[in-house]
Amino acid sequence: MAVTAADVGFDLTLTDEQELAQRTAREFATEKVLPHATEIDAKAAIPKALLAEMASLGFMGIAVPERWGGAGLDTVSAVLVMEEINRACASTGVVMSVNNSLVCQPLLRHGSDTQKERWLRPLASGKLLGCFALSEPASGSDAAAMRTSAKRDGQGWLLSGTKNFITNGASADVVIVFAQTDPPKGHRGIAAFVVDKKTKGLTVGKVEHKLGIRGSDTAQLIFDGVRVGDEGLLGEASAGFRIALDTLDGGRIGIAAQAVGIGRACLEDALAYAKEREAFGKKIAEFQAIQEMLANMATEVDAARLLTWRAAALKDRGEDHVMAAAQAKLFASDVAVRAARDCVQIFGGYGYLTEFPAERHYRDAKITEIYEGTSEIMKLVIAEELLKE
Ligand code: CAA
Repeated sequence: MAVTAADVGFDLTLTDEQELAQRTAREFATEKVLPHATEIDAKAAIPKALLAEMASLGFMGIAVPERWGGAGLDTVSAVLVMEEINRACASTGVVMSVNNSLVCQPLLRHGSDTQKERWLRPLASGKLLGCFALSEPASGSDAAAMRTSAKRDGQGWLLSGTKNFITNGASADVVIVFAQTDPPKGHRGIAAFVVDKKTKGLTVGKVEHKLGIRGSDTAQLIFDGVRVGDEGLLGEASAGFRIALDTLDGGRIGIAAQAVGIGRACLEDALAYAKEREAFGKKIAEFQAIQEMLANMATEVDAARLLTWRAAALKDRGEDHVMAAAQAKLFASDVAVRAARDCVQIFGGYGYLTEFPAERHYRDAKITEIYEGTSEIMKLVIAEELLKE
């Protein structure tokens, strides 16, 4: 049976390096991200200078070795940083999370040294931005049912098809894309490629309007006979689906950290408001109905953080983290959505207004139950691990 909490003794004490990463991210998020979060949401854009500053702190390639342009830290440090950035702004958080988990990690784990030199170094140092193109108009949860094809053509491949819901799709410079090379082989016929966004035949289609995380762009990518040489193939031609799932195991830890950050934002903002706002002649924090919501939020956010740290620690130890990552994402996203609902409730009428952060948290939280694997898929993954011989 898969590893359970009882099997995983791990030290909760953060190393000096992890504490420094957390402190640096907290100060940066509080001073440089939080003051702009409302505007980022309203204008649906993140200032380039903000991303550049994050890159200079090493936040675009946190768990990438310094040798390849990253900060040379571990996954635990990455989730600490992600929680802080997402506590301030979930749009900024997801741009960073995708670049770190879904772009740098597969290049680090499966790329050749030549690919690392060409793509990982500039991506991890924030000179380039990446995106991960797996979903399609007719295949989301059933990722193996993709129709995008990669046909052998001379020394390389010709990619054709449409990818949907691609975070950073419009703004990215580099795409990790998955395509079917041999349809009868099903998921064993899927290959992963790293593609320059400027390649002829690759265009950005519809840029979506969204409920939340509006500062990050979500776009359609259209591949119309995009020529990619063998140097663009990531890993073996038959290994693409495994690379996608292996990458998503790590990505889900990042989204769990995002959900913890949003949940914490809900708790901190609701707590501050409850201590200020008066009703019936006293602060609303003095009412048990409010206290119950705050107590639940605090307990659930802490529990979600522990699951997230455990998944990250397992990944750092090189241990199986498939189930732990799915559990962390499942639980943390549920917590974020509930905390956001209670946050709006505690703010009352003001919670419904865009001048206050509660409604942004409410809109931002929902996506954590959907992207990088829905909650239903997380349960499927957990059950599959439980049922393994
Ligand atoms: N790591 C590596 N390989 C894995 C794996 C894992 N965690 N889980 C399964 N595999 C392998 C299996 O061993 C199997 O390989 P072999 O046949 O060679 O042995 C292969 O993958 C297929 O396994 P399954 O038969 O279990 O696969 P499936 O087709 O039934 O799908 C699934 C399983 C869990 C439903 C999977 O498709 C899945 O996770 N779907 C959700 C997709 C998803 O998360 N999409 C998010 C889009 S990306 C996004 O949101 C990014 C963004 O922009 C923010």
